[in-house]
Amino acid sequence: MSKIFVDACFGKETPYTPVWMMRQAGRYLPEYMEVREKAGDFLSLCHTPEMAAEVTLQPVDIVGVDAAILFSDILVIPNEMGMDLRFEKGEGPIFDKPIKSIEDVEALLGGEEAAGKLTYVYDTIKIVREKLANDKALIGFTGAPWTLATYMIEGRGTKTYNLVKKLIYTQPELMHALLAKVTEVVKYYLEKQIQAGVDVVQIFDSWATALEKDKYFEFSWNYMKEIASYIKAKYPHIPIIMFPKGIPGFLDEIDGDFDVFGVDWSTPIELAKEKLGSRYVLQGNMEPCRLYSKEATKEAVEHIASVMGGKRHIFNLGHGILPDVPVENAKYFIKLCKNVGKDF
Ligand code: CP3
Repeated sequence: MSKIFVDACFGKETPYTPVWMMRQAGRYLPEYMEVREKAGDFLSLCHTPEMAAEVTLQPVDIVGVDAAILFSDILVIPNEMGMDLRFEKGEGPIFDKPIKSIEDVEALLGGEEAAGKLTYVYDTIKIVREKLANDKALIGFTGAPWTLATYMIEGRGTKTYNLVKKLIYTQPELMHALLAKVTEVVKYYLEKQIQAGVDVVQIFDSWATALEKDKYFEFSWNYMKEIASYIKAKYPHIPIIMFPKGIPGFLDEIDGDFDVFGVDWSTPIELAKEKLGSRYVLQGNMEPCRLYSKEATKEAVEHIASVMGGKRHIFNLGHGILPDVPVENAKYFIKLCKNVGKDF
């Protein structure tokens, strides 16, 4: 059975515009909170394949999206490279011993050895694939080397990026050594996710927006492109989604061997269509906070649909739904997306 989401990623015509969303910063489903409580903490949930599979499947069953996103986190990668990770309530992720020197980089596990430690992710994928309907897609993912390296250097979320920026301007070779090491792990990691059964892979570059143009291409996009080319050459049937956040000014320079470009809400969809629409399928552009209001949701879906005409576009909420969004509004959003082109 063909998967409408995969077809749409390759730009094929589909019966309706597919839709998916993640709940990263959002714990909007009471069903998720129940399993989360059983697991204890967030990382234990990631480490327990049966439970991680259960929460992966929830949005498909409850709100009716066309693709499930693997339940895990981008930071399990540096964690398995040897960095202690904890999630602190109200603070988010923390690495207590951030990377400071080339010795620290050398001490990290690399390549297939590090990727081989993420067995709980591959086991989760296998369980999900068994339980997920054949016409629904499973999306695997990774953080972009730049976003991962930023966390590894800053040790936690940052507003100023001063530690990582100090490195790129004073010790660029150290930064490149770290990025190259993370890139090798990510290649194996995505490959193993594909072998375990994901249908699509997405690379999140949530901190793309921190860099000026030349530095962005040097320290981030080139590494993302390297990963995409590696995966495309070996697995051409797997669509690749690139999602750099907050770079509307750089779209002219975007190229590479991938299929779908994720458009965040700060980039006008008209601009993304003009610059990239003929070369890549576009994903997203919906501002997730619009889901607080049904009217605001409808307005945005209609606008995006009017620009894209239901073609070469996938609906998505970018960085995900917030915890206090009523489930009913999420369901309404999905219904609207699936009826694009019909009478709302
Ligand atoms: O929606 C899903 O379940 C998909 C799985 C997923 C998670 N994180 C689960 C998660 C994905 C794809 C991610 C990606 C991720 N993680 C990114 C890139 C995407 C983006 O939004 O920018 C980043 C930067 C992270 C790092 C991270 N993980 C942060 C900053 C936080 C704290 C968020 C918060 O508001 O507390 C997390 C924790 C996290 N990852 C949660 C979930 C469901 C919340 C954990 C919980 O308390 O249950």
